[in-house]
Amino acid sequence: MISSSEMTETETETAPEMVAAVASEAVRAEISRGVDDEEKEKIRRQKKLEEALEAKSLRRIISAYLNYPEASKEDLKRWERSYRKLSPAHKALVPHYPLKLQRLKRCISTNSYFIINMLQAFEPPIDLSQDLDDCEDSNLECAPNEKYILDERHNSSCQPALANGCTNQEESKSMRDSLTGALSIEEFQRKDANDHSPKNHSEDTRIIDKRYDCDGDNLHHDHGSASLSPHDWLDPSLQSHVPLVDVDKVRCIIRNIVRDWAAEGKRERDECYKPILEELDSLFPDRQKESTPPACLVPGAGLGRLALEISCLGFMSQGNEFSYYMMICSSFILNYAQMPCEWTIYPWIHSNCNSLSDNDQLRPVAIPDIHPASAGITEGFSMCGGDFVEVYSESCHAGMWDAVVTCFFIDTAHNIIEYIEIISKILKDGGVWINLGPLLYHFADTYGHGNEMSIELSLEDVKRVASHYGFEIEKERTIETTYTTNPRSMMQNRYYAAFWTMRKKSALTT
Ligand SMILES: C[S@@+](CC[C@H](N)C(=O)[O-])C[C@H]1O[C@@H](n2cnc3c(N)ncnc32)[C@H](O)[C@@H]1O
Repeated sequence: MISSSEMTETETETAPEMVAAVASEAVRAEISRGVDDEEKEKIRRQKKLEEALEAKSLRRIISAYLNYPEASKEDLKRWERSYRKLSPAHKALVPHYPLKLQRLKRCISTNSYFIINMLQAFEPPIDLSQDLDDCEDSNLECAPNEKYILDERHNSSCQPALANGCTNQEESKSMRDSLTGALSIEEFQRKDANDHSPKNHSEDTRIIDKRYDCDGDNLHHDHGSASLSPHDWLDPSLQSHVPLVDVDKVRCIIRNIVRDWAAEGKRERDECYKPILEELDSLFPDRQKESTPPACLVPGAGLGRLALEISCLGFMSQGNEFSYYMMICSSFILNYAQMPCEWTIYPWIHSNCNSLSDNDQLRPVAIPDIHPASAGITEGFSMCGGDFVEVYSESCHAGMWDAVVTCFFIDTAHNIIEYIEIISKILKDGGVWINLGPLLYHFADTYGHGNEMSIELSLEDVKRVASHYGFEIEKERTIETTYTTNPRSMMQNRYYAAFWTMRKKSALTT
Protein backbone atom coordinates (compact mmCIF):
# COMPACT_ATOMS: atom_id res chain seq x y z
CA MET A 1 0.00 0.00 0.00
CA ILE A 2 1.26 3.51 -0.74
CA SER A 3 1.15 6.03 2.15
CA SER A 4 0.83 9.77 1.56
CA SER A 5 4.44 10.25 2.73
CA GLU A 6 5.62 8.23 -0.22
CA MET A 7 3.99 10.69 -2.60
CA THR A 8 6.09 12.51 -5.12
CA GLU A 9 6.93 16.16 -4.70
CA THR A 10 4.20 17.26 -7.02
CA GLU A 11 1.69 15.25 -5.10
CA THR A 12 2.73 16.64 -1.66
CA GLU A 13 2.11 20.11 -3.02
CA THR A 14 -1.51 19.19 -3.55
CA ALA A 15 -4.20 20.36 -1.11
CA PRO A 16 -4.68 18.00 1.95
CA GLU A 17 -8.11 16.79 0.83
CA MET A 18 -6.64 16.05 -2.60
CA VAL A 19 -3.80 14.08 -0.97
CA ALA A 20 -6.38 11.91 0.73
CA ALA A 21 -8.16 11.49 -2.56
CA VAL A 22 -4.95 10.60 -4.38
CA ALA A 23 -4.01 8.18 -1.61
CA SER A 24 -7.29 6.34 -1.77
CA GLU A 25 -6.99 6.37 -5.55
CA ALA A 26 -3.61 4.66 -5.18
CA VAL A 27 -5.09 2.13 -2.78
CA ARG A 28 -7.87 1.46 -5.22
CA ALA A 29 -5.35 1.05 -8.04
CA GLU A 30 -3.32 -1.34 -5.93
CA ILE A 31 -6.39 -3.37 -5.02
CA SER A 32 -7.55 -3.37 -8.58
CA ARG A 33 -4.08 -4.54 -9.71
CA GLY A 34 -4.43 -7.40 -7.23
CA VAL A 35 -7.90 -8.21 -8.52
CA ASP A 36 -6.60 -7.97 -12.10
CA ASP A 37 -3.79 -10.40 -11.33
CA GLU A 38 -6.22 -12.76 -9.67
CA GLU A 39 -8.57 -12.46 -12.62
CA LYS A 40 -5.71 -13.02 -15.08
CA GLU A 41 -4.62 -16.11 -13.16
CA LYS A 42 -8.17 -17.41 -13.17
CA ILE A 43 -8.44 -16.86 -16.91
CA ARG A 44 -5.06 -18.52 -17.44
CA ARG A 45 -6.12 -21.58 -15.47
CA GLN A 46 -9.46 -21.73 -17.24
CA LYS A 47 -7.73 -21.52 -20.63
CA LYS A 48 -5.29 -24.23 -19.63
CA LEU A 49 -8.15 -26.42 -18.55
CA GLU A 50 -10.05 -25.80 -21.75
CA GLU A 51 -6.96 -26.66 -23.80
CA ALA A 52 -6.47 -29.85 -21.81
CA LEU A 53 -10.12 -30.79 -22.32
CA GLU A 54 -9.68 -30.03 -25.96
CA ALA A 55 -6.56 -32.15 -26.21
CA LYS A 56 -8.39 -35.00 -24.48
CA SER A 57 -11.30 -34.69 -26.84
CA LEU A 58 -9.06 -34.55 -29.90
CA ARG A 59 -7.00 -37.53 -28.71
CA ARG A 60 -10.23 -39.48 -28.39
CA ILE A 61 -11.26 -38.57 -31.94
CA ILE A 62 -7.87 -39.56 -33.31
CA SER A 63 -8.12 -42.80 -31.32
CA ALA A 64 -11.54 -43.42 -32.85
CA TYR A 65 -10.00 -43.12 -36.31
CA LEU A 66 -7.11 -45.35 -35.30
CA ASN A 67 -9.43 -47.92 -33.76
CA TYR A 68 -11.32 -48.24 -37.02
CA PRO A 69 -9.34 -51.26 -38.37
CA GLU A 70 -9.54 -53.22 -35.13
CA ALA A 71 -13.23 -52.50 -34.55
CA SER A 72 -14.06 -53.42 -38.13
CA LYS A 73 -12.13 -56.65 -37.85
CA GLU A 74 -14.09 -57.48 -34.71
CA ASP A 75 -17.28 -57.24 -36.79
CA LEU A 76 -15.67 -59.50 -39.32
CA LYS A 77 -14.82 -62.06 -36.64
CA ARG A 78 -18.41 -61.98 -35.45
CA TRP A 79 -19.63 -62.70 -38.98
CA GLU A 80 -17.05 -65.49 -39.29
CA ARG A 81 -18.19 -67.06 -36.02
CA SER A 82 -21.79 -67.04 -37.20
CA TYR A 83 -20.80 -68.64 -40.47
CA ARG A 84 -18.91 -71.38 -38.66
CA LYS A 85 -22.05 -72.24 -36.72
CA LEU A 86 -23.85 -73.15 -39.92
CA SER A 87 -24.42 -76.82 -40.57
CA PRO A 88 -22.40 -78.27 -43.51
CA ALA A 89 -25.59 -78.45 -45.55
CA HIS A 90 -26.33 -74.80 -44.99
CA LYS A 91 -22.71 -73.82 -45.62
CA ALA A 92 -22.91 -75.60 -48.96
CA LEU A 93 -25.70 -73.24 -49.99
CA VAL A 94 -23.46 -70.18 -49.59
CA PRO A 95 -20.04 -71.53 -50.63
CA HIS A 96 -18.77 -68.08 -51.58
CA TYR A 97 -19.33 -66.68 -48.08
CA PRO A 98 -15.74 -67.22 -46.79
CA LEU A 99 -14.48 -65.47 -49.89
CA LYS A 100 -16.74 -62.53 -49.18
CA LEU A 101 -15.24 -62.29 -45.69
CA GLN A 102 -11.76 -62.29 -47.21
CA ARG A 103 -12.77 -59.51 -49.54
CA LEU A 104 -14.26 -57.55 -46.65
CA LYS A 105 -10.95 -57.84 -44.84
CA ARG A 106 -9.14 -56.28 -47.77
CA CYS A 107 -11.75 -53.50 -47.98
CA ILE A 108 -11.18 -52.69 -44.30
CA SER A 109 -7.46 -52.45 -44.97
CA THR A 110 -8.03 -50.09 -47.87
CA ASN A 111 -10.27 -47.85 -45.77
CA SER A 112 -7.66 -47.95 -43.00
CA TYR A 113 -4.99 -46.95 -45.48
CA PHE A 114 -6.97 -43.86 -46.40
CA ILE A 115 -7.60 -43.02 -42.75
CA ILE A 116 -4.00 -43.35 -41.69
CA ASN A 117 -2.82 -41.15 -44.56
CA MET A 118 -5.42 -38.59 -43.59
CA LEU A 119 -4.24 -38.61 -39.97
CA GLN A 120 -0.64 -38.41 -41.08
CA ALA A 121 -1.44 -35.17 -42.88
CA PHE A 122 -3.25 -33.72 -39.89
CA GLU A 123 -1.44 -31.08 -37.90
CA PRO A 124 -3.11 -30.78 -34.50
CA PRO A 125 -3.65 -27.15 -33.66
CA ILE A 126 -2.95 -27.85 -29.99
CA ASP A 127 -0.40 -29.75 -27.98
CA LEU A 128 -1.91 -33.21 -27.68
CA SER A 129 0.35 -34.26 -24.85
CA GLN A 130 -1.23 -31.98 -22.29
CA ASP A 131 -3.10 -33.75 -19.56
CA LEU A 132 -6.17 -32.89 -17.57
CA ASP A 133 -4.34 -34.06 -14.44
CA ASP A 134 -2.01 -31.11 -14.86
CA CYS A 135 -4.91 -28.72 -14.41
CA GLU A 136 -5.49 -27.78 -10.82
CA ASP A 137 -9.18 -27.17 -11.41
CA SER A 138 -9.94 -30.16 -13.57
CA ASN A 139 -12.71 -31.20 -11.20
CA LEU A 140 -14.53 -27.98 -11.94
CA GLU A 141 -15.34 -29.02 -15.45
CA CYS A 142 -16.73 -32.15 -16.91
CA ALA A 143 -15.13 -34.05 -19.74
CA PRO A 144 -15.99 -33.07 -23.28
CA ASN A 145 -19.27 -34.29 -24.54
CA GLU A 146 -18.51 -36.23 -27.66
CA LYS A 147 -21.88 -35.64 -29.19
CA TYR A 148 -20.77 -32.17 -30.12
CA ILE A 149 -18.02 -33.63 -32.13
CA LEU A 150 -20.12 -35.20 -34.82
CA ASP A 151 -23.66 -34.43 -35.71
CA GLU A 152 -24.92 -37.79 -36.77
CA ARG A 153 -28.66 -37.47 -36.45
CA HIS A 154 -29.00 -37.46 -40.19
CA ASN A 155 -26.79 -40.49 -40.65
CA SER A 156 -29.59 -42.93 -40.48
CA SER A 157 -27.38 -45.96 -40.03
CA CYS A 158 -25.48 -44.49 -37.12
CA GLN A 159 -26.08 -44.98 -33.44
CA PRO A 160 -27.82 -42.14 -31.64
CA ALA A 161 -25.38 -39.65 -30.23
CA LEU A 162 -23.96 -40.29 -26.80
CA ALA A 163 -24.57 -37.82 -24.06
CA ASN A 164 -22.73 -37.64 -20.79
CA GLY A 165 -24.39 -34.69 -19.15
CA CYS A 166 -21.65 -32.19 -19.73
CA THR A 167 -22.75 -28.65 -20.37
CA ASN A 168 -22.88 -28.06 -24.07
CA GLN A 169 -21.50 -24.58 -23.88
CA GLU A 170 -18.26 -25.77 -22.40
CA GLU A 171 -17.69 -28.37 -25.04
CA SER A 172 -18.55 -26.06 -27.87
CA LYS A 173 -16.31 -23.42 -26.40
CA SER A 174 -13.36 -25.70 -26.09
CA MET A 175 -13.90 -27.00 -29.61
CA ARG A 176 -13.95 -23.53 -30.94
CA ASP A 177 -10.87 -22.37 -29.17
CA SER A 178 -8.84 -25.34 -30.12
CA LEU A 179 -9.51 -25.16 -33.80
CA THR A 180 -7.61 -21.95 -34.23
CA GLY A 181 -5.14 -21.95 -37.02
CA ALA A 182 -5.82 -25.43 -38.21
CA LEU A 183 -7.03 -26.38 -41.58
CA SER A 184 -8.40 -25.23 -44.88
CA ILE A 185 -7.74 -24.99 -48.54
CA GLU A 186 -6.46 -21.50 -48.04
CA GLU A 187 -6.10 -20.99 -44.41
CA PHE A 188 -8.11 -22.19 -41.51
CA GLN A 189 -9.51 -19.06 -40.05
CA ARG A 190 -11.33 -18.55 -36.85
CA LYS A 191 -10.21 -15.38 -35.20
CA ASP A 192 -10.21 -13.67 -38.58
CA ALA A 193 -13.37 -15.30 -39.76
CA ASN A 194 -14.66 -11.91 -40.82
CA ASP A 195 -11.48 -11.00 -42.64
CA HIS A 196 -12.39 -11.36 -46.27
CA SER A 197 -9.08 -10.15 -47.54
CA PRO A 198 -7.91 -12.09 -50.53
CA LYS A 199 -5.40 -14.86 -50.01
CA ASN A 200 -3.35 -16.69 -52.56
CA HIS A 201 -4.64 -20.19 -52.34
CA SER A 202 -1.99 -21.79 -54.46
CA GLU A 203 0.62 -20.82 -51.90
CA ASP A 204 -1.36 -22.22 -49.05
CA THR A 205 -2.51 -25.45 -50.55
CA ARG A 206 -0.07 -27.92 -49.15
CA ILE A 207 0.74 -31.21 -50.73
CA ILE A 208 2.39 -33.79 -48.58
CA ASP A 209 3.91 -37.06 -49.48
CA LYS A 210 4.11 -38.67 -46.08
CA ARG A 211 2.21 -41.86 -46.58
CA TYR A 212 1.67 -45.12 -44.89
CA ASP A 213 2.12 -48.40 -46.66
CA CYS A 214 -0.45 -51.04 -46.47
CA ASP A 215 -0.06 -54.71 -47.31
CA GLY A 216 -3.29 -56.54 -46.89
CA ASP A 217 -3.97 -56.47 -43.18
CA ASN A 218 -1.11 -54.46 -41.88
CA LEU A 219 -0.29 -50.82 -41.90
CA HIS A 220 3.38 -50.03 -41.83
CA HIS A 221 4.30 -46.70 -40.38
CA ASP A 222 6.86 -45.14 -42.60
CA HIS A 223 9.08 -43.43 -40.10
CA GLY A 224 11.91 -43.40 -42.65
CA SER A 225 12.77 -39.82 -43.39
CA ALA A 226 10.04 -38.14 -41.38
CA SER A 227 10.81 -37.56 -37.76
CA LEU A 228 8.40 -39.36 -35.48
CA SER A 229 7.90 -36.49 -33.12
CA PRO A 230 5.25 -34.42 -34.94
CA HIS A 231 3.06 -37.49 -35.12
CA ASP A 232 3.81 -39.25 -31.87
CA TRP A 233 0.10 -39.29 -31.32
CA LEU A 234 -0.22 -41.68 -34.26
CA ASP A 235 1.90 -44.30 -32.54
CA PRO A 236 -0.46 -47.24 -31.94
CA SER A 237 1.14 -47.98 -28.58
CA LEU A 238 0.02 -44.57 -27.33
CA GLN A 239 -3.55 -45.01 -28.44
CA SER A 240 -6.38 -45.69 -26.10
CA HIS A 241 -9.36 -47.85 -26.83
CA VAL A 242 -12.53 -45.89 -27.45
CA PRO A 243 -16.17 -46.89 -27.20
CA LEU A 244 -17.48 -48.54 -30.35
CA VAL A 245 -19.90 -45.68 -30.78
CA ASP A 246 -16.90 -43.45 -31.55
CA VAL A 247 -15.80 -45.78 -34.30
CA ASP A 248 -19.34 -45.58 -35.67
CA LYS A 249 -18.74 -41.88 -36.09
CA VAL A 250 -15.75 -42.70 -38.29
CA ARG A 251 -18.02 -44.88 -40.40
CA CYS A 252 -20.45 -41.98 -40.66
CA ILE A 253 -17.62 -39.78 -41.91
CA ILE A 254 -16.84 -42.36 -44.59
CA ARG A 255 -20.47 -42.10 -45.75
CA ASN A 256 -20.23 -38.32 -45.65
CA ILE A 257 -17.23 -38.55 -47.97
CA VAL A 258 -19.45 -40.19 -50.56
CA ARG A 259 -22.05 -37.41 -50.19
CA ASP A 260 -19.50 -34.67 -50.72
CA TRP A 261 -16.58 -36.08 -52.61
CA ALA A 262 -17.60 -39.04 -54.77
CA ALA A 263 -19.32 -39.36 -58.13
CA GLU A 264 -21.75 -41.66 -56.35
CA GLY A 265 -22.85 -38.76 -54.14
CA LYS A 266 -23.80 -36.64 -57.16
CA ARG A 267 -27.49 -37.43 -56.90
CA GLU A 268 -27.62 -36.24 -53.29
CA ARG A 269 -25.57 -33.18 -54.14
CA ASP A 270 -27.84 -32.43 -57.08
CA GLU A 271 -30.84 -32.67 -54.80
CA CYS A 272 -29.40 -30.61 -51.95
CA TYR A 273 -26.59 -28.38 -53.19
CA LYS A 274 -27.76 -27.65 -56.74
CA PRO A 275 -30.95 -25.77 -55.79
CA ILE A 276 -28.89 -23.67 -53.38
CA LEU A 277 -26.23 -22.93 -55.99
CA GLU A 278 -28.87 -22.06 -58.61
CA GLU A 279 -30.55 -19.76 -56.14
CA LEU A 280 -27.28 -17.99 -55.29
CA ASP A 281 -26.49 -17.69 -58.98
CA SER A 282 -29.79 -16.01 -59.76
CA LEU A 283 -29.77 -13.76 -56.68
CA PHE A 284 -26.30 -12.32 -57.35
CA PRO A 285 -26.24 -12.00 -61.15
CA ASP A 286 -23.70 -9.16 -61.22
CA ARG A 287 -21.21 -10.61 -58.78
CA GLN A 288 -18.40 -10.93 -61.32
CA LYS A 289 -18.60 -7.23 -62.13
CA GLU A 290 -18.24 -6.11 -58.54
CA SER A 291 -14.87 -5.17 -57.08
CA THR A 292 -15.28 -7.64 -54.24
CA PRO A 293 -17.32 -10.80 -54.58
CA PRO A 294 -20.34 -11.21 -52.31
CA ALA A 295 -19.57 -12.95 -49.03
CA CYS A 296 -21.39 -16.19 -48.26
CA LEU A 297 -21.25 -18.12 -45.00
CA VAL A 298 -22.03 -21.85 -44.78
CA PRO A 299 -22.54 -22.84 -41.12
CA GLY A 300 -22.29 -26.59 -40.43
CA ALA A 301 -20.27 -27.05 -43.61
CA GLY A 302 -19.59 -30.75 -43.04
CA LEU A 303 -16.89 -31.95 -45.43
CA GLY A 304 -16.82 -28.65 -47.28
CA ARG A 305 -18.14 -29.46 -50.76
CA LEU A 306 -21.01 -26.97 -50.72
CA ALA A 307 -18.72 -24.20 -49.45
CA LEU A 308 -16.26 -25.06 -52.21
CA GLU A 309 -18.96 -25.03 -54.90
CA ILE A 310 -20.14 -21.63 -53.67
CA SER A 311 -16.58 -20.39 -53.89
CA CYS A 312 -16.31 -21.72 -57.45
CA LEU A 313 -19.51 -19.85 -58.29
CA GLY A 314 -17.73 -16.57 -57.58
CA PHE A 315 -18.46 -15.94 -53.91
CA MET A 316 -16.13 -15.24 -51.05
CA SER A 317 -17.18 -18.42 -49.31
CA GLN A 318 -16.56 -19.43 -45.74
CA GLY A 319 -17.52 -22.79 -44.27
CA ASN A 320 -18.00 -23.09 -40.53
CA GLU A 321 -17.73 -26.44 -38.81
CA PHE A 322 -17.14 -27.55 -35.24
CA SER A 323 -16.59 -31.27 -35.56
CA TYR A 324 -12.99 -32.46 -35.56
CA TYR A 325 -14.12 -35.67 -37.22
CA MET A 326 -15.30 -33.54 -40.13
CA MET A 327 -12.45 -31.03 -40.06
CA ILE A 328 -9.66 -33.62 -40.13
CA CYS A 329 -11.25 -35.22 -43.18
CA SER A 330 -12.26 -32.06 -45.06
CA SER A 331 -8.82 -30.58 -44.54
CA PHE A 332 -7.23 -33.69 -46.00
CA ILE A 333 -9.40 -33.65 -49.09
CA LEU A 334 -9.31 -29.90 -49.62
CA ASN A 335 -5.63 -29.39 -48.93
CA TYR A 336 -3.91 -32.62 -49.76
CA ALA A 337 -5.77 -34.28 -52.63
CA GLN A 338 -3.46 -34.29 -55.61
CA MET A 339 -5.78 -35.57 -58.30
CA PRO A 340 -9.31 -36.83 -58.85
CA CYS A 341 -9.95 -40.41 -57.78
CA GLU A 342 -6.69 -40.55 -55.87
CA TRP A 343 -8.14 -42.74 -53.14
CA THR A 344 -10.41 -45.74 -52.97
CA ILE A 345 -12.76 -46.39 -50.11
CA TYR A 346 -15.40 -49.01 -49.41
CA PRO A 347 -18.15 -47.04 -47.67
CA TRP A 348 -20.85 -49.68 -47.55
CA ILE A 349 -19.01 -52.68 -46.11
CA HIS A 350 -20.05 -52.13 -42.52
CA SER A 351 -23.57 -53.39 -42.87
CA ASN A 352 -24.71 -56.67 -44.34
CA CYS A 353 -28.29 -55.49 -44.25
CA ASN A 354 -30.43 -54.48 -47.20
CA SER A 355 -27.85 -55.45 -49.84
CA LEU A 356 -29.10 -56.54 -53.22
CA SER A 357 -25.82 -58.36 -53.84
CA ASP A 358 -22.40 -58.82 -52.26
CA ASN A 359 -20.90 -56.85 -55.11
CA ASP A 360 -23.11 -53.90 -54.20
CA GLN A 361 -21.93 -54.03 -50.64
CA LEU A 362 -18.29 -54.40 -51.62
CA ARG A 363 -18.19 -51.87 -54.41
CA PRO A 364 -15.30 -49.42 -54.32
CA VAL A 365 -15.83 -45.68 -54.43
CA ALA A 366 -13.13 -43.44 -55.86
CA ILE A 367 -12.53 -40.12 -54.14
CA PRO A 368 -12.39 -37.22 -54.61
CA ASP A 369 -14.44 -36.89 -57.77
CA ILE A 370 -12.73 -33.56 -58.48
CA HIS A 371 -9.37 -32.07 -57.59
CA PRO A 372 -10.43 -29.31 -55.16
CA ALA A 373 -7.35 -27.17 -55.69
CA SER A 374 -8.05 -27.02 -59.44
CA ALA A 375 -11.79 -26.52 -59.13
CA GLY A 376 -11.59 -22.77 -59.69
CA ILE A 377 -12.20 -21.34 -56.25
CA THR A 378 -12.62 -17.64 -55.64
CA GLU A 379 -10.07 -15.88 -53.48
CA GLY A 380 -11.05 -15.80 -49.85
CA PHE A 381 -12.33 -19.37 -49.56
CA SER A 382 -11.89 -20.47 -45.97
CA MET A 383 -13.07 -22.87 -43.32
CA CYS A 384 -13.71 -21.49 -39.89
CA GLY A 385 -13.56 -23.95 -37.01
CA GLY A 386 -15.78 -23.47 -34.02
CA ASP A 387 -19.29 -23.33 -32.74
CA PHE A 388 -21.50 -21.23 -34.97
CA VAL A 389 -23.16 -19.52 -32.02
CA GLU A 390 -19.93 -18.61 -30.33
CA VAL A 391 -18.00 -17.50 -33.38
CA TYR A 392 -20.67 -15.56 -35.22
CA SER A 393 -22.35 -13.87 -32.29
CA GLU A 394 -19.21 -11.77 -31.94
CA SER A 395 -19.95 -8.19 -32.85
CA CYS A 396 -17.36 -8.11 -35.64
CA HIS A 397 -19.66 -10.30 -37.76
CA ALA A 398 -22.70 -8.05 -37.52
CA GLY A 399 -23.91 -7.04 -40.99
CA MET A 400 -20.90 -8.64 -42.70
CA TRP A 401 -22.49 -11.30 -44.89
CA ASP A 402 -24.39 -11.02 -48.16
CA ALA A 403 -25.69 -14.58 -47.92
CA VAL A 404 -25.96 -17.33 -45.35
CA VAL A 405 -26.54 -20.86 -46.61
CA THR A 406 -27.69 -23.57 -44.22
CA CYS A 407 -27.98 -27.13 -45.52
CA PHE A 408 -29.09 -29.80 -43.04
CA PHE A 409 -27.93 -27.48 -40.30
CA ILE A 410 -30.60 -25.50 -38.46
CA ASP A 411 -31.88 -28.54 -36.58
CA THR A 412 -28.46 -28.99 -34.94
CA ALA A 413 -29.35 -26.12 -32.59
CA HIS A 414 -30.09 -26.30 -28.92
CA ASN A 415 -32.04 -23.16 -29.51
CA ILE A 416 -33.05 -22.63 -33.10
CA ILE A 417 -34.29 -19.15 -32.22
CA GLU A 418 -30.72 -18.20 -31.34
CA TYR A 419 -29.47 -19.55 -34.69
CA ILE A 420 -32.07 -17.46 -36.55
CA GLU A 421 -31.25 -14.38 -34.49
CA ILE A 422 -27.55 -14.74 -35.30
CA ILE A 423 -28.19 -15.37 -38.99
CA SER A 424 -30.25 -12.19 -39.08
CA LYS A 425 -27.62 -10.24 -37.18
CA ILE A 426 -24.70 -11.22 -39.39
CA LEU A 427 -26.54 -10.59 -42.67
CA LYS A 428 -26.40 -7.20 -44.30
CA ASP A 429 -29.74 -5.48 -44.72
CA GLY A 430 -31.10 -6.98 -47.93
CA GLY A 431 -28.94 -10.09 -47.47
CA VAL A 432 -30.36 -13.55 -48.11
CA TRP A 433 -30.70 -16.70 -46.08
CA ILE A 434 -31.04 -19.87 -48.14
CA ASN A 435 -31.95 -22.97 -46.20
CA LEU A 436 -32.46 -26.60 -47.10
CA GLY A 437 -33.14 -29.34 -44.62
CA PRO A 438 -35.51 -31.12 -42.29
CA LEU A 439 -36.25 -30.38 -38.63
CA LEU A 440 -34.75 -33.51 -37.11
CA TYR A 441 -33.71 -31.73 -33.95
CA HIS A 442 -30.30 -32.93 -32.88
CA PHE A 443 -30.93 -32.62 -29.17
CA ALA A 444 -34.47 -33.94 -29.12
CA ASP A 445 -34.86 -37.23 -27.27
CA THR A 446 -31.63 -36.97 -25.31
CA TYR A 447 -33.02 -39.45 -22.84
CA GLY A 448 -31.74 -39.23 -19.31
CA HIS A 449 -30.18 -35.84 -19.85
CA GLY A 450 -33.00 -33.61 -18.80
CA ASN A 451 -30.76 -30.57 -18.56
CA GLU A 452 -30.00 -30.57 -22.25
CA MET A 453 -31.73 -27.64 -23.81
CA SER A 454 -33.61 -28.42 -26.97
CA ILE A 455 -36.15 -26.08 -28.51
CA GLU A 456 -38.03 -28.02 -31.14
CA LEU A 457 -40.18 -25.73 -33.27
CA SER A 458 -42.44 -26.66 -36.12
CA LEU A 459 -41.69 -25.25 -39.55
CA GLU A 460 -44.57 -22.83 -39.07
CA ASP A 461 -42.99 -21.50 -35.89
CA VAL A 462 -39.53 -21.33 -37.43
CA LYS A 463 -40.95 -19.08 -40.14
CA ARG A 464 -42.76 -16.95 -37.55
CA VAL A 465 -39.52 -16.47 -35.61
CA ALA A 466 -37.66 -15.63 -38.82
CA SER A 467 -40.26 -12.99 -39.62
CA HIS A 468 -39.70 -11.49 -36.17
CA TYR A 469 -36.01 -11.12 -37.01
CA GLY A 470 -36.79 -9.20 -40.16
CA PHE A 471 -36.92 -12.02 -42.71
CA GLU A 472 -39.35 -12.11 -45.58
CA ILE A 473 -39.87 -15.31 -47.51
CA GLU A 474 -39.15 -14.94 -51.21
CA LYS A 475 -39.25 -18.58 -52.24
CA GLU A 476 -40.34 -21.72 -50.55
CA ARG A 477 -40.76 -25.34 -51.55
CA THR A 478 -40.22 -28.90 -50.41
CA ILE A 479 -37.32 -30.96 -51.71
CA GLU A 480 -37.32 -34.71 -51.42
CA THR A 481 -33.87 -36.03 -50.68
CA THR A 482 -31.65 -38.39 -48.69
CA TYR A 483 -28.66 -37.85 -46.45
CA THR A 484 -25.55 -40.07 -46.81
CA THR A 485 -27.74 -42.89 -48.02
CA ASN A 486 -26.41 -45.91 -49.87
CA PRO A 487 -28.13 -45.48 -53.25
CA ARG A 488 -28.17 -49.24 -53.79
CA SER A 489 -29.59 -50.14 -50.41
CA MET A 490 -33.02 -51.69 -50.02
CA MET A 491 -33.66 -49.12 -47.31
CA GLN A 492 -33.68 -45.45 -48.18
CA ASN A 493 -34.66 -42.86 -45.59
CA ARG A 494 -36.14 -39.91 -47.41
CA TYR A 495 -36.58 -36.38 -46.15
CA TYR A 496 -39.15 -33.91 -47.35
CA ALA A 497 -36.82 -31.04 -46.68
CA ALA A 498 -37.86 -27.42 -46.40
CA PHE A 499 -36.14 -25.20 -48.93
CA TRP A 500 -36.46 -21.45 -48.71
CA THR A 501 -34.95 -18.14 -49.59
CA MET A 502 -35.58 -15.39 -47.08
CA ARG A 503 -34.40 -11.82 -47.34
CA LYS A 504 -33.49 -9.69 -44.38
CA LYS A 505 -35.58 -6.59 -44.73
CA SER A 506 -34.56 -4.65 -41.68
CA ALA A 507 -31.95 -4.72 -38.97
CA LEU A 508 -34.10 -6.09 -36.17
CA THR A 509 -31.91 -7.47 -33.42
CA THR A 510 -34.17 -7.93 -30.39
C1 LIG B 1 -26.17 -32.87 -40.80
S1 LIG B 1 -24.57 -32.23 -41.00
C2 LIG B 1 -24.71 -31.35 -42.54
C3 LIG B 1 -23.40 -31.13 -43.20
C4 LIG B 1 -23.48 -30.45 -44.56
N1 LIG B 1 -24.07 -29.16 -44.48
C5 LIG B 1 -24.22 -31.32 -45.53
O1 LIG B 1 -25.31 -30.93 -45.98
O2 LIG B 1 -23.71 -32.40 -45.85
C6 LIG B 1 -24.54 -30.89 -39.83
C7 LIG B 1 -23.15 -30.34 -39.64
O3 LIG B 1 -23.21 -29.23 -38.76
C8 LIG B 1 -22.13 -29.32 -37.83
N2 LIG B 1 -22.54 -28.57 -36.64
C9 LIG B 1 -23.49 -28.90 -35.73
N3 LIG B 1 -23.63 -27.96 -34.81
C10 LIG B 1 -22.74 -26.99 -35.13
C11 LIG B 1 -22.41 -25.74 -34.56
N4 LIG B 1 -23.03 -25.31 -33.46
N5 LIG B 1 -21.45 -25.00 -35.14
C12 LIG B 1 -20.82 -25.43 -36.26
N6 LIG B 1 -21.10 -26.61 -36.85
C13 LIG B 1 -22.04 -27.37 -36.30
C14 LIG B 1 -21.96 -30.80 -37.60
O4 LIG B 1 -20.69 -31.11 -37.09
C15 LIG B 1 -22.20 -31.34 -38.99
O5 LIG B 1 -21.02 -31.40 -39.74
